[in-house]
Amino acid sequence: MSSKLDILVLGSAAGGGSPQWNCRCAVCARVRAGGAGTAVRTQCSLAVSADGGKRWVLLGASPDLGHQLAGHAAFLPRVGRRHSPISAVVLANSEVDHIAGLLSMREGHGFGLYATAATHAVLERSAIFKVLDTALVSRRVVDLEVSTPLIGIDGASIGMSIEAFSVPGKVALHEEQAGQTPSLGELGEQVVGLKVSAGEKYFFFIPGCAAFTPELGERLGAAPLVFFDGTLWDDEELVRQELSSKSGRRMGHMCIDGANGSLAYFSGVEIGRKVFIHLNNSNPVLLADSPERNRVEAAGWEVAYDSMVLHL
Ligand code: MLT
Ligand code: MN
Ligand code: ZN
Repeated sequence: MSSKLDILVLGSAAGGGSPQWNCRCAVCARVRAGGAGTAVRTQCSLAVSADGGKRWVLLGASPDLGHQLAGHAAFLPRVGRRHSPISAVVLANSEVDHIAGLLSMREGHGFGLYATAATHAVLERSAIFKVLDTALVSRRVVDLEVSTPLIGIDGASIGMSIEAFSVPGKVALHEEQAGQTPSLGELGEQVVGLKVSAGEKYFFFIPGCAAFTPELGERLGAAPLVFFDGTLWDDEELVRQELSSKSGRRMGHMCIDGANGSLAYFSGVEIGRKVFIHLNNSNPVLLADSPERNRVEAAGWEVAYDSMVLHL
């Protein structure tokens, strides 16, 4: 039987979603008003299945997970009194928007929780995650650069492997020390990209990346599908709109536009489908009729939206 991967975008926005509850930026105002060219987006998470939807793996557990799961019949309980087709969760980093949804998965359901040792350590330091009973939720450490077959709580293969690799990043916002600027653009275990494979099918999920590297270009070359950090259009976007004092660089996200942006860097990389994800509410590419959306589409990119479905 030939392998396949079904991918469902549960959430496509960065932390806060779009529109963000307390934001009156131009994009949030347009999205909140609704109408042509706008779409509400929840916080970033993918669901992936290699067996036609019998079992699903989540890449990231967003704070919106409860609503995201309730919105798709595929994730409803199917047998007995307690059941979920979610067999594993894989974490790319420990930012709130990638881990808070774990707290909504505490009702006695067993699954494999895959993350680097550094990300597991963050969860262990945060006492609230003790609600995930270790007898049911098995912590599985993912080593960098090693293909790890995913296994359900029953010990059976999920038919999918993941490989984590370091991308430039910083510690999660909630792990920063007050008054100190963390080391920016570090390579380590705190922020990783994920290669998800089933047989010969594979794609990359890189929701956070502080900078492009030649090594990353080589790794992604010829990939059929890449989801990539689309947080900000430009580095000063939040500062200019008086939404924050932080640049994209300070937040640990490379931007889309400019000489150091993803549009420029990816123009030299041959990729089947390139999809921006983890889109901040301020990013004008969220609006289907914006000049910025035209620019990314002209460069061969797609902009992820909630409930987007892709098949490999
Ligand atoms: C990020 O991606 O930079 C974080 O999600 C920031 C945050 O937690 O607000
Ligand atoms: Mn985030
Ligand atoms: Zn906004």
